[in-house]
Amino acid sequence: MLEGAAAALGTAPADRVIVALDCSEDEAYALADRLAGTATFLKVGMTLYYSAGPLVVRRLREQGFKVFVDLKLHDIPHQVEGAARSLAQVGAELMTVHASGGAEMMRAALAGASAGDAGRRAGVDRPAVIGVTVLTSMSDQDLASVGVSRTAAEQVRSLAGLVGGAGLDGVVCSPREASLMRRALGPGALVVTPGVRPAGSASDDQQRVATPAKAIGDGASHLVVGRPITRSADPLSAFNAIVEEVASAL
Ligand code: C5P
Repeated sequence: MLEGAAAALGTAPADRVIVALDCSEDEAYALADRLAGTATFLKVGMTLYYSAGPLVVRRLREQGFKVFVDLKLHDIPHQVEGAARSLAQVGAELMTVHASGGAEMMRAALAGASAGDAGRRAGVDRPAVIGVTVLTSMSDQDLASVGVSRTAAEQVRSLAGLVGGAGLDGVVCSPREASLMRRALGPGALVVTPGVRPAGSASDDQQRVATPAKAIGDGASHLVVGRPITRSADPLSAFNAIVEEVASAL
């Protein structure tokens, strides 16, 4: 059962499947039209945001969607505070920061997201802010090459502690880390997992995948699913099948 920040973003099975729109602006709007009234939560990442800009967030919100703006902020605290404020003002309900930017930077993100009536003006309370621990594309060797002598698993655990201490709302992590993160951060945390693939579907470039039921069973609050839905001949049916699997796991 979800609590706190995790529950505030919706607890119905459909609320827990976030569709990643990693495509052109035209394709994103076409997909949003197909999914409107069924899906509730869409993710705008760097590919779409850096071409379409904040307008894409406003437009998707006007269609009734919650929008996760996944820009993985990482800069000096002052800059990250401003970026988080800007994203709150356009109506993001969920945003990401790199935990490796440090506790002060994460607290600045929270302050920016909460600043004044930024979020409320766009119709949401304070947007949720979650931390990226270690990118799933980083191996132990990659970490060593940037001066981190811990293993990726140890670094994930350590940064999760920093995320919790800074007061963030949760983490984005691989489904393989979901149960660890749930135990570390408690029942109110957002544990958002990409790398989700229904049984029998292509894993694309994702190395460590899990089925929707397994990810939810392991404690994920929300799943991020892109290509299994967006590249399907029938995105609506693909979305509904995943939601049914989530419902059966709850
Ligand atoms: O198409 P697919 O389902 O693989 O999309 C997964 C989404 O989750 C993409 O938007 C990707 O950027 C994001 N993501 C990820 N792995 C991470 C963090 C984010 O795949 N570690």
